[in-house]
Amino acid sequence: MQLTMIGTGYVGLVSGVCFSDFGHDVICVDKMPEKITALENGEIPIYEPGLDELLARNVAAERLSFTLDLATAVAQADAVFIGVGTPTRRGDGHADLTYVYDAAREIARALNGYTVVVTKSTVPVGTNREIERIIREENPDADFDVASNPEFLREGAAIEDFMRPDRVVVGVESDRATDVMAKIYRPLALREAPIVYTDLESAEMIKYAANAFLATKITFINEIAALCEKVGADVKSVSKGMGMDARIGNKFLHAGPGYGGSCFPKDTKALARIGQEHAAPIQIVEAVIDINEATKRRMIDKVMQLCDDSVNGKKIAVLGVTFKPNTDDMRDSPSLTIVPALVGAGANVHVVDPQGLKEGEALLPGVTWQDDPYKAMRNAEAVILLTEWNEFRALDLERVVKVMKDPRMADLRNVYDPKDAEEAGLTYVSVGR
Ligand code: UGA
Repeated sequence: MQLTMIGTGYVGLVSGVCFSDFGHDVICVDKMPEKITALENGEIPIYEPGLDELLARNVAAERLSFTLDLATAVAQADAVFIGVGTPTRRGDGHADLTYVYDAAREIARALNGYTVVVTKSTVPVGTNREIERIIREENPDADFDVASNPEFLREGAAIEDFMRPDRVVVGVESDRATDVMAKIYRPLALREAPIVYTDLESAEMIKYAANAFLATKITFINEIAALCEKVGADVKSVSKGMGMDARIGNKFLHAGPGYGGSCFPKDTKALARIGQEHAAPIQIVEAVIDINEATKRRMIDKVMQLCDDSVNGKKIAVLGVTFKPNTDDMRDSPSLTIVPALVGAGANVHVVDPQGLKEGEALLPGVTWQDDPYKAMRNAEAVILLTEWNEFRALDLERVVKVMKDPRMADLRNVYDPKDAEEAGLTYVSVGR
C-alpha cells in the first residue's frame, strides 16, 4: 500500500515508521522544514528506544521518506493518516482540533482517486463525521471514505506496542474502506492481533474510554495508597492481591506521584468536557482529574514532612523528572508541580534525569542539573525518587547514606524495600506503605 502520514509527532512518526516496516511505502509529511531536514538526516526529534534504527532501516530500503509537500504525497496515497496534535484548548479543557481540520482541508484539495482518510490522532466523538463533511465541502467530487483508527501505543514502548498490540481498532463504514484498512493491517492480522471493526463514533469513544479507565485505575490505587498510609497497610501487597483477580488485572495498579504525560491529563479533560456537553457527565473521570492534582500536591507535603517541615536552604536531590522512564517527555509530569514547589520554598534542588535536560531545562528554572545521581545527592539533606528510570532502581544505598549530609529518601515510586532502606541508615518514606 502507498500510505501518507500527516504529522511527525509521537503518534505520526512511530506509526509511519512502523507501517513502512510492515512493507508499505510511507511518506511522512510535516509543515516544519527543520523537522523534515532532520528526519531526512536520520535525526529523530524525540527519544524513543529503537526508533532511530527502524527509521534508518526503512529509509535505506526506500520504503520511507519525508516531505513538506503534502499535496503530492496525498495525491499518490491509498490511505492518508492524520496524526497531528490535539492539545488541550486553553481555557475550556476541550481538545483543540484546529490542526486536524486544517489537515482535512489540505488533504481534500489534493485527493486523487479513491483514498481512505484515516484519523490516528485522539479526537472527540463526532470529529470523523466533521472531517468527512469538511472534505466534501472543500472538494465535492472527491472519491474517499473516512476511517477512525486510534492509536494505543505508550511512549518508551511505542514500537513494541505498535507491532504487538492488544488490539487494533478501526471505525469504518464502507466495504471499500474496510478492505483498504484490512490490507494495511494484514501483517498484524497474520500475527493474530485482534482487529475490532466498528462505527466511527464507537472507535473514537474506545480511545477516550480506554485512556480514562487506565487513568482511573491509577487514581484508584493512589487513593487506596493514601488510606494504606493511615491504617498501616502496604499498597504494594494490596495491588498484588487485587491484581491477581483476573477481572481486575495487575497492570496500572502502581501507586505513585500521580499520572502525567501527553495523553491521560489531556484525554481525561476532553472526555469530561464531551460528557458535560452532552448532558451525560462522566463524574468518575471528573473526580479522577481533581484527585490526580491532589495526589501531586500530597507528594509535596510528604517531602516537607520528611524534611521536618522546611526545605529552606536545604540541598534536595531529585532523581528523574520526565513523566515516566524511557522518554524525554515532560508534558504534565508530576515533577512540574513538585519541583517548583520545593524551589519556591527555598530548596536548593539538584536534578538528574537520563533524558530530561533537553525539555526540562526551560520548564524547571532555578534547579541545578547533574549527570550522576551520587553527585546530585552529595551533601543533600533529602533525595526524592520521582521517575523510576533503571539507573535509579539499583542505587547502592550504603553509598547514598555516605554521600548525603542527612540521609532521607522520599521514594515516590516504591522502588526500594523500606526494610533495606532503613537498614542502610536512610530515613525513608514511600507511597502507601
Ligand atoms: C498512555 C496509554 O498507556 C497508551 O495506551 C496510549 O496510547 C497513550 O497514553 C496515548 O493516548 O497516546 P503514555 O502516556 O505513553 O501512554 O504512558 P503510560 O505508560 O500509560 O503512563 C502514563 C502515566 O501514568 C505516567 O505518568 C506513569 O508514571 C503513570 N502510571 C502508570 C502510574 O502512576 N502507575 C501505573 O501503574 C501506571
